[in-house]
Amino acid sequence: MLGVVVLISGSGSNLRALLDATNNPLYPVRILAVGADQSCSGLEHAELFGIPTFVISPENFGSRELWANTLLETVQRFQPDLTVLAGFMKILPHGFVRALSPKLINTHPSLLPLFPGAHGVRDALAAGALETGVTIHIVDEGVDTGPQLAQAKLAILPDETEHELHERIKVIERELLVNVVKDIAEHRIKLGTEN
Ligand code: GRF
Repeated sequence: MLGVVVLISGSGSNLRALLDATNNPLYPVRILAVGADQSCSGLEHAELFGIPTFVISPENFGSRELWANTLLETVQRFQPDLTVLAGFMKILPHGFVRALSPKLINTHPSLLPLFPGAHGVRDALAAGALETGVTIHIVDEGVDTGPQLAQAKLAILPDETEHELHERIKVIERELLVNVVKDIAEHRIKLGTEN
């Protein structure tokens, strides 16, 4: 069993997909805890599954580093084999990344290295891209720059809004994330350390 901590900031539909997958006893993953940087509706999925949650907001700390140290200590208390950023919208300081990477992965709604950052969907539309998708990657000290583990593509439809496109991306994103975490648990994807 791969023990996983998931960090979120929003609706948590990717988290929900992971939680639903764990309903299958053959899915080799246990969600140990779910954390967020703000109170958000996604935490309700964890509560429904009886999984511990925590909220650690940067506003309550004097610096990003102090915030991230507390976040790190809290994550580490659960001794995860893997930490998943699933729609976690804060950039993490280098110390946090160094402590957990490469057992720290992120899901991003574009075909990296295209359109990194907080507006991957909007930026793909603004650039007139014909296709986009999702990338799951190891987190390194850059923004959405770490080694890629998997991608899935879709065509952008004419006149599609950012919201419509993002919702379609999230459908393939959830499936890819569930599969990548399974592949990590079953050692088909190696993160560069024993896992
Ligand atoms: C996902 O598309 C994620 O890649 C992006 O924000 C979205 C989060 O969706 N950074 P949800 O909270 O899992 O529904």
